[in-house]
Amino acid sequence: MSLLEVKNLTKNFGGLAAISRVNLKLEENELVGLIGPNGAGKTTLFNLLTGVYIPSSGSIELKQKDVPLSLIGKQTSQIAGFGIARTFQNIRLFKDLTVLENVLIGLHNSRGANTFSSLFRTKHFFDSEELMHKEARELLALFDLESKEEYVAKNLPYGDQRRLEIVRALATRPKILFLDEPAAGMNPQESADLTKLILRIQNEFKLTVVLIEHDMSVVMNVCERIYVLEHGRVLAQGTPQEIRKNKEVIRAYLGGE
Ligand SMILES: Nc1ncnc2c1ncn2[C@@H]1O[C@H](COP(=O)(O)OP(=O)(O)O)[C@@H](O)[C@H]1O
Ligand SMILES: [Mg+2]
Repeated sequence: MSLLEVKNLTKNFGGLAAISRVNLKLEENELVGLIGPNGAGKTTLFNLLTGVYIPSSGSIELKQKDVPLSLIGKQTSQIAGFGIARTFQNIRLFKDLTVLENVLIGLHNSRGANTFSSLFRTKHFFDSEELMHKEARELLALFDLESKEEYVAKNLPYGDQRRLEIVRALATRPKILFLDEPAAGMNPQESADLTKLILRIQNEFKLTVVLIEHDMSVVMNVCERIYVLEHGRVLAQGTPQEIRKNKEVIRAYLGGE
């Protein structure tokens, strides 16, 4: 099977089907774009895949060693523990903690802090703390944030906060990373730099990344495959070349018939 397989996924809010019979597959180590107009259901899909919402129907299965694991009904923290991380359309950080502390929380979550060694402050505890600080700093350096590790998160400029959120997600050592409009509100230069960085970490960390992004040129340039959502349905999926000449996509985006 694929790394993640979604079948007939549906989420109703009252009378509105925000996500309707969506089928989607993610392979290991690929960069997938998710596009579609405002209200198409992109964020809702992320919320379903990360356990924020429980689907009305359909299945979500993650490849494990032997049997596929159903993610339906699992808590967000459990899903994170299976190696699925995300960022939010509206930045979510521990605003009053420092940059470094924000990343350390991600690392702690993935290591599962050992209660015995932290309680009794064993040598192992101090060694692993030291290791985590080192790892956190390496991740921050990738995103040019290492000189700001003592800043309180809320005092960072906007673009830095967006990048810190990605660092925090990466610190959990995910297999799959969902990025919800990471470049929103950035200027064109910041946005271009961030895109390059996403491509680089996807390669270096051998990650599967799903990127929600409004700038079509970005999506077309960096994504290997693209899903197009409209009114909660998959309107089209394929390579950038296939999406570019898809009649349904052209109609939806150019508004013609
Ligand atoms: N918690 C919710 N309750 C009710 N309606 C919601 C909720 N979340 C999203 N929706 C609706 O679902 C639709 C899809 O929203 P969303 O997934 O945020 O779209 P996108 O991210 O593609 O802009 C919208 O019509 C939105 O109003
Ligand atoms: Mg959204």
